Amino acid sequence: MTTHQKLYEGKAKIIYATEDPEIFLADFKDDATAFNAQKRGTIQGKGSINCTISSKLFQQLAAHGIKNHYIDSPAPNQMRVRAVKIVPLEVVVRNIAAGSLCKQTGIPQGTMLENPLVEFYYKDDNLGDPLLTRDRLRLLKLATEEQVESLINLALQVNNFLQDFWKKCGITLVDFKLEFGLDSQQQLLLADEISPDTCRLWDINESDPNQRIMDKDRFRRDLGKVEDAYQAVLQRVLQVLT
Ligand code: TMP
Repeated sequence: MTTHQKLYEGKAKIIYATEDPEIFLADFKDDATAFNAQKRGTIQGKGSINCTISSKLFQQLAAHGIKNHYIDSPAPNQMRVRAVKIVPLEVVVRNIAAGSLCKQTGIPQGTMLENPLVEFYYKDDNLGDPLLTRDRLRLLKLATEEQVESLINLALQVNNFLQDFWKKCGITLVDFKLEFGLDSQQQLLLADEISPDTCRLWDINESDPNQRIMDKDRFRRDLGKVEDAYQAVLQRVLQVLT
């Protein structure tokens, strides 16, 4: 294979150009960071696990009419994707209170939310990815009004699909983060990844608040058995899809 030009290196992935300007190659790393990279580590096998889980979910989402950047996966830790310009927003959907929502509002962890909460964060590490209000979104012109409406609708559709899917895996979808991009036709596509790095996933059959965690919170909070949890999520995804 020819050596591709590195276009971007993030905390969990490297994006390469390919011979086709409409296609990028995403290389998923085992590197793990938390708290805006103040905490760093490695989760053995994470690159392949997250790439495989994301590939499967993107294929399922496409089959359910949700356009996304996935093309194919030439290696377990590599994904060929449609070339998009990432919209600098992290779109978070929450079904159950956890993480920063609890820290910032005092809502007890584990509280079921009456309706899914859709939030926008400014994807900017130097600023610490701050939570945006609708007016600040407008002020910063990070997306048009129409795009914001589409992002909310798409995020809620993805939530409906993912809640069902993870339930089949014996997993409760607590919350998750999505990123979107614009292709050369200015079409909005779901992008980035959907994995235990970007979702909070709780084992349905486990009531212990720490034992049930099957996602990156195990790494963030030093709960141990991080690799085991990621591996277990992958196995359940594969089982549901066979
Ligand atoms: P939060 O509770 O820390 O705001 O996280 C909400 C969701 O977003 C959770 O599923 C983890 C995910 N997330 C990311 O994927 N990347 C990030 O940088 C952060 C802060 C959260």
